Formats: sequence, C-alpha cells, structure tokens
Amino acid sequence: MSRASLLLLLAVLHPGPAPAAEGRQVFAARCAGCHAAAPGAPPGAGPSLAGVVGRRVAGDAEFDYSPALLAAREAGQVWDAGLLQRFLADPDAMFPGLWMGANGLRDAADRAAVAAFLAGTTRAD
Ligand code: HEC
Repeated sequence: MSRASLLLLLAVLHPGPAPAAEGRQVFAARCAGCHAAAPGAPPGAGPSLAGVVGRRVAGDAEFDYSPALLAAREAGQVWDAGLLQRFLADPDAMFPGLWMGANGLRDAADRAAVAAFLAGTTRAD
C-alpha cells in the first residue's frame, strides 16, 4: 500500500471529533461564562444562545441589548451559521458599538465548530 493511501485509510478510520462536539468544548471554554446554551436558561452577562441559529438578532426577550444589536434586529437580521461565523471573526467590526466585551474566535475551525454546536441547540424546554 502506498504511503498516501495508508494516510487516507488512517484518516477514515480515525476521524477527528465531530464539529458540534468540538464546538461544545470551545463554547464551554470561551463563551459559557457569559452565555447559556441550554433550553429555557435565563440570560447571564450575555443573552441565551439556545436556538440562536434561525433566531432574529437580539432575539432573547429577557436580555437588554445594546442599540447596535437592536438596530440590526429592526433591520430584520436573522442569525444563520454563516452570519454567526463572520460575527465571531470580529464581533465589533460587524456591530460597531457592541457591548459583548469579548473578542470572538481567531481560529476559523473553532468558529465553524461553535456555529455547528449552536445550530443543534433549541430555545424551548
Ligand atoms: C464577557 C462576556 C461574553 C463572552 C465571553 C462572550 N459573549 Fe457573546 N455577548 C455578550 C453580551 C453582553 C452580548 C450582547 C451585546 C450587545 O447587546 O451589544 C453578546 C452577544 C452575543 C451574540 C448576539 C446574540 C443575539 O441574541 O443576537 C452572539 C451570537 C454571541 N454573543 C456569541 C458569543 C460566542 C459564540 C462567544 C464565545 C466565542 C461569546 N459570545 C462570548 C457577552 C459575552
């Protein structure tokens, strides 16, 4: 067997962790201090992100958002996985005046993994 096909076989037999599972770990380390992701959880320092994919921007009714995010909601913006990843690349650039107080994620794989994890969460109990 060639070296290339051996490496391919190893990659197939030992896939990395699924993005959503990896995203859960990144979320726990980098986001959960401020954001809940469990169904029905109340906001913390930041809004709940349970079910955020498909939700309007500034869509946690229990959270007091900045004018920057409220304006985006008024403009009809809705979170999808792509918007979430672009947001996490540079949160303040997307929403000047954001109150998040965190830097997002520098690694594109981390951003994709967190978006995949959040896409699997739901708002309701
Ligand atoms: C230091 C606390 C803090 C950390 C850490 C933090 N956030 Fe936030 N986040 C906030 C706050 C506060 C807001 C609301 C900002 C506003 O109103 O301008 C917010 C807003 C958001 C929103 C918009 C939610 C909505 O309802 O429209 C998303 C998405 C988000 N954060 C994702 C993340 C992710 C993913 C991480 C981890 C990589 C993270 N945040 C880390 C505090 C934090």
